[in-house]
Amino acid sequence: MRKLNLRPSTISSKVVMALAGVFLMLFLVVHLFLNLLMLMGDEGETFSNAVVFMTENPAVKIFEYVLFAGFIIHIIIGLLIEIKNYFARPVKYAVSNTSKTSFFSKYMIHTGLIILIFLIIHFTHFFFVKLNLVDIPGDITTDNHDFYAMAKYLFKNGIYTLIYIISFVFLGFHLNHAFQSAFQTLGLNHPRYTPFIKALSSIYAIVVSMGYSIIPIYFYFFY
Ligand code: HEM
Repeated sequence: MRKLNLRPSTISSKVVMALAGVFLMLFLVVHLFLNLLMLMGDEGETFSNAVVFMTENPAVKIFEYVLFAGFIIHIIIGLLIEIKNYFARPVKYAVSNTSKTSFFSKYMIHTGLIILIFLIIHFTHFFFVKLNLVDIPGDITTDNHDFYAMAKYLFKNGIYTLIYIISFVFLGFHLNHAFQSAFQTLGLNHPRYTPFIKALSSIYAIVVSMGYSIIPIYFYFFY
């Protein structure tokens, strides 16, 4: 009789990580739609109404906790997989062999850590302000839910704008591999659909990173 293995395997951790990653990828789309409302040319009125709706909705409050947990789970498992792989790696040869892994897949932990640094900065300027944990950035006088005024203020700073855009380029690199990798981890791949999934993965990564980057560009150059 086969023994039951109760130790969480790398495979099951990877499935949990992929599920958290897929959840984060869906969230990125919703967040992008919300942010793009800032470009309506109505001084952020539509955007602010949407923020009020989100803030007052109890389901969104629950969602925020789930989202936070999603990030923590994804990051912790990502780091653990990376540490495990590091120690399992054989001694490096002077000349590396030609690997079949894609360029972006080799740098998932690096792009992930850049996203993590960005998230800390981002939370400090927006989410923690909303929670009253930190002050409103700069010398603007507004309430702690007025994200439009905060974005307008922050994106007038060239360095901040550049850091924001570069972070989204790296997020794009992460997503370019992440999207197709999640299909594989969750067993949703088939050789016939691989080129389609790869193309979709790149389209998703480009749309997300460019979509988010349009907002700082708009505030910095055109506002
Ligand atoms: C919005 C942010 C993020 C999204 C949407 C996201 C999404 C994903 C997805 C879907 C995967 C594929 C999982 C799989 O291989 O099945 C992945 C892989 C990975 N992510 Fe993220 N991720 C994000 C942020 C981060 C952060 C902040 C870190 C770490 C600090 C990180 C570390 C990793 C690593 C190391 C892998 C590859 C794991 C492996 O070796 O298979 N990610 N990500």
